[in-house]
Amino acid sequence: MPAPAEGARSDRTGSTRRQFLLGGAVAGVGAAAAIGVDYALNRQDTPAPTPTTPMNGDEVVPFFGVHQAGIDTPAQAHGLFLGLDLLATTDREGLTRLLRILTDDAARLTQGTPALADSEPELAMAPARLTVTFGFGPGLVARAAGTGPSWLAPLPAFTVDRLQPEFSDGDLLLQIAGDDPLTVAHAARMLLKDTRSFTSLRWSQNGFRRAYGTERPGTTMRNLFGQVDGTTNPLPGTKGFDAVVWSDDGWLAGGTGAVIRRIRMDLDKWDRLDRSGREASVGRNLVNGAPLTGQKEFDEPDFAATTAIGFPVIPQFAHIRRARGEDGEQIFRRAYNYDERPAGSSVSESGLIFVSFQADVDRQFTPMQRRLDELDLLNEWTTPIGSAVFAVPPGCREGGFIGETLLA
Ligand code: HEM
Repeated sequence: MPAPAEGARSDRTGSTRRQFLLGGAVAGVGAAAAIGVDYALNRQDTPAPTPTTPMNGDEVVPFFGVHQAGIDTPAQAHGLFLGLDLLATTDREGLTRLLRILTDDAARLTQGTPALADSEPELAMAPARLTVTFGFGPGLVARAAGTGPSWLAPLPAFTVDRLQPEFSDGDLLLQIAGDDPLTVAHAARMLLKDTRSFTSLRWSQNGFRRAYGTERPGTTMRNLFGQVDGTTNPLPGTKGFDAVVWSDDGWLAGGTGAVIRRIRMDLDKWDRLDRSGREASVGRNLVNGAPLTGQKEFDEPDFAATTAIGFPVIPQFAHIRRARGEDGEQIFRRAYNYDERPAGSSVSESGLIFVSFQADVDRQFTPMQRRLDELDLLNEWTTPIGSAVFAVPPGCREGGFIGETLLA
């Protein structure tokens, strides 16, 4: 992609400054407004804006709506997942206050407006498709004196699990995603500052996909095994997606269930497997993710096809054969890669922040994970080391707050 023209830059400076002043005016006479005016006055020498193609930094995902953003939103390049625990002193009333404040922060930051009393307001001005998605763990629902869906509990234990408490469970989930890592970091800091007297940070997981602009929008992501990952997934905006994802149950109606599993991928061991072994383990090729019985990524796999000597072309142990759900047993996957500092003699500590959304975790996710636990060749190279389940409440209107259907 060519470098943006100088005019594009000055246009963005102009529009963000306008947004900023507007944000300041809405916010009243807070510190952010004062800094904003100062900033604008000192930048009068900036060249006049010229019309250009909008930059990705300016792109905004609406915050208010029937559903929370960050679920059916095309996945952004960066995803930060924060698991928080409520302090013992946070009662139902405190929880309501917390969620009102966080909703206000998220509503502003996602639209490119600084949070109230934002300490670095300039960092808020390139939203870059920022979304903030809230999820409630069993502890939060109990604190709200509410009744959660029956599946809102830690998943049953699976034999493949090697779960670490520092990556598991939690009362409140913040999924903060955007196409710019600086925007994501700033949003996280603003939100976390406002949680300080209500919660403590239990875990934090930072994930990534391809940087914005590296590939055409809509390209299925690749994981660190090099596999095309996310091909067979319900398509947002379709009836099928709605049926898989959105709940119609009580206060959760319009919301969904989130499963977040930190799955370690042993790249050093994967290095020892040849290409055909790698492709057989999943049942798809590595070049473009086509099933072993097809040519193109979205060709339907033929699970009945056999080789000349009668073996299934897609092996019995292949991940896609084992994961494929019966009708009504699908999930929507929206994963991120992670890559951390390796320990010992290993040269990698990598994996997948597996994220799936489904209306009913017990009915849709658990049977699938159980099948994979019993047989899936990928288990040779993958180990779940974190696990958490959240109820993701519906969205809200302007003036409302996320969680109002549970707490109001
Ligand atoms: C690190 C762990 C994992 C890796 C590397 C991985 C990788 C893949 C790959 C490469 C595909 C084929 C392309 C696609 O359709 O996306 C796939 C498909 C799939 N995976 Fe996974 N996966 C992992 C864990 C899981 C888990 C934990 C679940 C659910 C319990 C799951 C559920 C699925 C489903 C439902 C499909 C589509 C199957 C179909 O074709 O119907 N995966 N995965």
